[in-house]
Amino acid sequence: MIRALDVIIKKRNGNILSDSEIQFLISEYTNGNIPDYQMAAFAMAVFFKSMSGAELSALTTAMLHSGSTLDLSSISGVCVDKHSTGGVGDKISIPLAPAVAACGVLVPMISGRGLGHTGGTLDKLESIPGFSCKLSVEQFKKQLAAIGCCLGSQTDEIAPADKKLYALRDVTGTIESIPLIASSIMSKKLSEGIQGLVLDVKFGSGAFMRDPKDAYLLAQTMVDIGARMGTQTVARLTSMEQPIGIMAGNSLEICESIDVLKGIGPKDTNQLVIELGAEMLLLSKKVSNLDDGRAQIQAVLKNGLALQKFIQVGEAQGANMRVVDDYSLLPHAQFKKPVFAPKAGFINSMDTYALGTAIAFLGGGREKSADIIDPGVGIEMCMKLGSYVEENQPLCIVHSSGKNEAQAMKQIEEAFNINAEKIPVPNLFGPRITIQNLNEVFHG
Ligand code: URA
Repeated sequence: MIRALDVIIKKRNGNILSDSEIQFLISEYTNGNIPDYQMAAFAMAVFFKSMSGAELSALTTAMLHSGSTLDLSSISGVCVDKHSTGGVGDKISIPLAPAVAACGVLVPMISGRGLGHTGGTLDKLESIPGFSCKLSVEQFKKQLAAIGCCLGSQTDEIAPADKKLYALRDVTGTIESIPLIASSIMSKKLSEGIQGLVLDVKFGSGAFMRDPKDAYLLAQTMVDIGARMGTQTVARLTSMEQPIGIMAGNSLEICESIDVLKGIGPKDTNQLVIELGAEMLLLSKKVSNLDDGRAQIQAVLKNGLALQKFIQVGEAQGANMRVVDDYSLLPHAQFKKPVFAPKAGFINSMDTYALGTAIAFLGGGREKSADIIDPGVGIEMCMKLGSYVEENQPLCIVHSSGKNEAQAMKQIEEAFNINAEKIPVPNLFGPRITIQNLNEVFHG
């Protein structure tokens, strides 16, 4: 007979757990037969002693089967998705999903809400009047078969073990554990019944994993789990040393996403859509190399097919897609106030985490999952890394409705590091991790 206490002690002592021990722990915890205090002790043991690849595959499988999974086998075509570990101004999923679908690949995307300093795709989409991400399984499948793309929300039935364990980790100091993060993300993504997954693993001042070495290890761990569970997975490390694009904030990011779909988006936002889209096309075997993938994504951004697909998806999900031609139909903040540079010099770094939390203070994000957000607030960047500013030149424009405005503006001003000497701007793209190069050591 397996006992929770023995499993905890075994992991505390650094031993490898069997599949049945892991399965027991997760299913009994989900059913309420293992108390939070024992699961918290287990999470802390994993935090200090880690888990092997085989243990992580068993943990992910157990969490994935703790609830419902999407069975998309009745829909013909290859399904691929993308997951980002999150950051500030990360609106990439919004133009990416329709662009990939416009190339003929199915994209059953299930996204989350913003929490803490990061925004969430669902909150951004729901700033479009009428847009509903709450799709039943039947609606989801019907839309995917008809249009090739869904932008849905996670239901309570998907990976309930992860939901319960994540909430427990949040209050027991066990969030920052690479094996627990990797199995948490992968259990949710693989429940979508996809054949391929592209992971955008962020590093830098606005990322969950600030140190690129940690981001690399997280990426390796998730690619390994994907391979063990039969889903082709590729990870790209990308920089979150500054917000992505110009706009950060829910409805502001919708404007920028539509700009990308019209072929007029900011350079870094476009590059991310093209690169991650090319990876999705390669995984789906729509193309045989990344260059062809990049060319196909660029073509649908230029010829309007990606925008058309976005309009189709929005209309299917109840949205007023006249927003595409008239951004004034989106929620707007009451005031626009510039934050001025306190001195002249080069913008050498930004505290992107502080920019993200400033947006949350303005009302654009949540501290607790039940908080209501103000979709119109955010930041419009006037300067990116490497830019030279004169004293009193605007660094950014704050879109505010008055809430915590003075505190947020001060925090935003202090987030810009301005120096007389210019330092090189970090690259947007770091290493690419696939099952073929999984065991390479980090080389920056
Ligand atoms: N995101 C997740 O989904 N899970 C984690 O554990 C951390 C970030």
